[in-house]
Amino acid sequence: MPAATVIAPSILAGDFSRLADEARKAESAGADWLHLDVMDGHFVPNLTFGPVVVEAIRRSTKLFLDTHLMIEEPLRWAPEYAKAGSDRVIFHVEALVPPENRLQRERGWALGGKLQMTGVTKGRQVAEAIRAAGKLPGISLNPETPASAIKDLVAAVDLVLVMTVWPGFGGQKFMDQVVPKIAEIRKATPGVIIEVDGGVSPATIRACTEAGASAFVAGTAVFRQPDAAAAVRALRDAAAGGTHS
Ligand code: DX5
Ligand code: ZN
Repeated sequence: MPAATVIAPSILAGDFSRLADEARKAESAGADWLHLDVMDGHFVPNLTFGPVVVEAIRRSTKLFLDTHLMIEEPLRWAPEYAKAGSDRVIFHVEALVPPENRLQRERGWALGGKLQMTGVTKGRQVAEAIRAAGKLPGISLNPETPASAIKDLVAAVDLVLVMTVWPGFGGQKFMDQVVPKIAEIRKATPGVIIEVDGGVSPATIRACTEAGASAFVAGTAVFRQPDAAAAVRALRDAAAGGTHS
C-alpha cells in the first residue's frame, strides 16, 4: 500500500512577524508537519533563524516540526535544534565534507560521487546525536548531488529530503530533472520516507508521488495562497492523481 501523503508547509514563506499565528494557520489548514528552514549564510547564501526561534515555534503549535538544516557543522548544531523541540532534524550530505571538496554552483553545493569514509562516519555521528536527543534524523541532498552520495548513510536515517531547487530561497521553479533521482532512491531503499522540497505545487506533486515520494514541503503553494486549507487539499488531491488547475 502506498504511504499516506504528508504535507509540510514551510514557514519560510510565512510572515516572520507573526510566526506563532502562521504555525497555527498551517495546523488549522490540515497540514501534517511544519517545515522549518534553517540557513546560516555559509552553506547557503541566505540566513534565517536559530534554535531560540525553533523553541518559540515549538511553544506555539503541536504540529510535528520538520527542521531542515542548511548549515555548516551539522555535528555541532543538530543536537541544539533537536533540544529546541524539533521532531525531526535533517542535515545536508554536502555539509559532511570540507567546502573545497564540493562542487560549487553560485554558492550552492553539490557532491560529485560517492561520499568518502570520513563523511560517512561524520554523518552517522550526526544521526546518532539526533537520536540520542530523542528525535528522528533525516539526510538531504542538493539537486546535482547523485543518489550514490547518500548510499552509505541512508540506513542511519528514517527520511531522505530530495531538493528540487537549489536551497536558500523559497518560490523557485521545480527542477523536473531531479525526479528520476527520487525513483532511484526509492528503488535502492524501499523503507525510507522520501520528502521533496522546492517548487512543490499541485502541478508538480504527482510526478514525485509516482516516483516514490510521500512527504512534501510546500512554502509558496500553502502560505502564499488565499486559502491555506484549500491549498493543502489541492496538494493532497493532486498527489493522489486528482485534477489540478
Ligand atoms: C529552500 C527551502 C524550501 C523552501 C520551499 O531552500 O528548503 O523549504 O521554503 O519553498 P517553495 O515551496 O516556495 O519552493
Ligand atoms: Zn526546506
